[in-house]
Amino acid sequence: MKICCIGAGYVGGPTMAMIAKQCPDIPVHVVDLNQARIDAWNSEELPIYEPGLHEVVKEARGRNLTFSTQVDAAIEDSDMVFISVNTPTKTYGIGAGRAANLEFVEKCARQIARSSSGHKIVVEKSTLPVRTAQAVKRILSSEAKDLTFDVLSNPEFLAEGTAIDDLLDPDRVLIGGESQRAIDALSEIYARWIPRERILTTNLWSSELSKLTANAFLAQRVSSINAISALCEATGADVDEVARAIGTDSRIGPKFLKSSIGFGGSCFQKDILNLVYLCEHFGLPEVAAYWEQVVTMNDHQKQRFSERIVKTMFNTVSDKKIGVWGFAFKKDTNDTRESAAIYICRDLLRERARLTIYDPRVSEKQIRSDLTYACTDANGQISASDQEMIANNVTIARDGYEATSEAHAIAVLTEWNEFKELDFERVYQSMLRPAFLFDGRNLLDHDRLESIGFEVHAIGKSSQRRRAED
Ligand code: NAD
Ligand code: UGA
Repeated sequence: MKICCIGAGYVGGPTMAMIAKQCPDIPVHVVDLNQARIDAWNSEELPIYEPGLHEVVKEARGRNLTFSTQVDAAIEDSDMVFISVNTPTKTYGIGAGRAANLEFVEKCARQIARSSSGHKIVVEKSTLPVRTAQAVKRILSSEAKDLTFDVLSNPEFLAEGTAIDDLLDPDRVLIGGESQRAIDALSEIYARWIPRERILTTNLWSSELSKLTANAFLAQRVSSINAISALCEATGADVDEVARAIGTDSRIGPKFLKSSIGFGGSCFQKDILNLVYLCEHFGLPEVAAYWEQVVTMNDHQKQRFSERIVKTMFNTVSDKKIGVWGFAFKKDTNDTRESAAIYICRDLLRERARLTIYDPRVSEKQIRSDLTYACTDANGQISASDQEMIANNVTIARDGYEATSEAHAIAVLTEWNEFKELDFERVYQSMLRPAFLFDGRNLLDHDRLESIGFEVHAIGKSSQRRRAED
């Protein structure tokens, strides 16, 4: 058995590194068109930050794990080909802003057909709309000459920041397919380290749809608790207390009930929009509207947070320095795709605030590029004033202290553990008064901060003044 994986991103890299680690006798070749990304996988500076990933890669790389741009050769030489390329939301034409862009997946299928002979198992690892396997099968059978094949759906459920733990000890592995032999071949690989009872098999369409559904349910929980956070702020209830109270009901469970500035990441929004598009396509407008509301609520939560900052700071943040802690979409990753921080920073900049941003893992280049993208309109244009604002009103700090020195306010946008360890007396002494702190992740010890002198505003909690009035 030889494996090839097309796409060396956040999924292809870690999943293949784990398979190679657990199956030292199976050669695993990860290929990508992006030379810089492949070079990084072959270096000491991996292209993605993920706790524990470096150790796994180091163990297998050079033994049975290879990274290269030799896509055709790798496909030709393998028995099983994983497709792990990006499936972003379409930005043009039919379904723009909703449907998944399947251009990259289709190109992979065509390339597999061209570069293959004999028998291949083609595995969909990317997240795909239900019934994509039908298109993959048609392309393979119409383009390939000396090829027989089986198509499997094997969606990935890892979360960034915990990818290695998730891959080592997943709740389940899902394999959808038609050929029992192909399903068995893939199951055998996972069974090297995952108990058999956690390897679920279904038909192709259930597997494809289960991935979109899992992400929709997880995102829905976040939007549901965020909806309640707004009501908490208005009434004096505390969203963390409400989450604890409902989460102890075993039918609800405690996970994914942490209220925040809104979910980010490359997948939740794109996958729900994809689900919405599919529902509309299959003539189910009420179902589409139901799921779309999860995204609407998420946008509202981000906007609500920046508006709360402005309102609290006497209705203006113009020329005020706001120290921003965190820019990644969650802790323990350098990924900023769809991070709520991007939109909150953009909105504050448009209120003419001066932002000093610190994130332990996100580069200055990435932050500036994300803000530029967020200010770019559908025609690819960015106004001169937005450009100027990003150039002049954004400073990148080297640590949490530098970010908040002489600041009017702090905004906590990512829940990095290191923010909890800061010397808050020192932070407070370096700030202007009143020293506002907006905790968008309910990360910090608010009672302690208030006793130091900070004016704390947290998600789903009413302000100190309101509590005093009560
Ligand atoms: P990514 O953008 O990090 O990586 C995709 C890679 O594929 C890129 O490096 C790109 O250069 C490469 N690529 C695209 N077309 C190619 C081609 N024709 N030949 C060779 N390489 C090609 O994306 P990702 O975050 O790894 O996500 C990949 C898929 O997995 C998506 O469908 C996503 O929804 C899904 N997924 C992602 C996560 C996650 O945590 N990021 C988790 C589960 C599932
Ligand atoms: C998510 C899913 O958890 C994975 O199972 C899935 O494989 C992946 O999407 C995918 O398909 O890409 P990920 O986006 O990496 O993983 O990270 P999550 O831990 O799910 O967090 C997503 C966002 O929701 C983050 O911005 C996080 O801060 C936010 N979140 C999460 C909350 O605001 N509250 C919570 O209680 C949980």
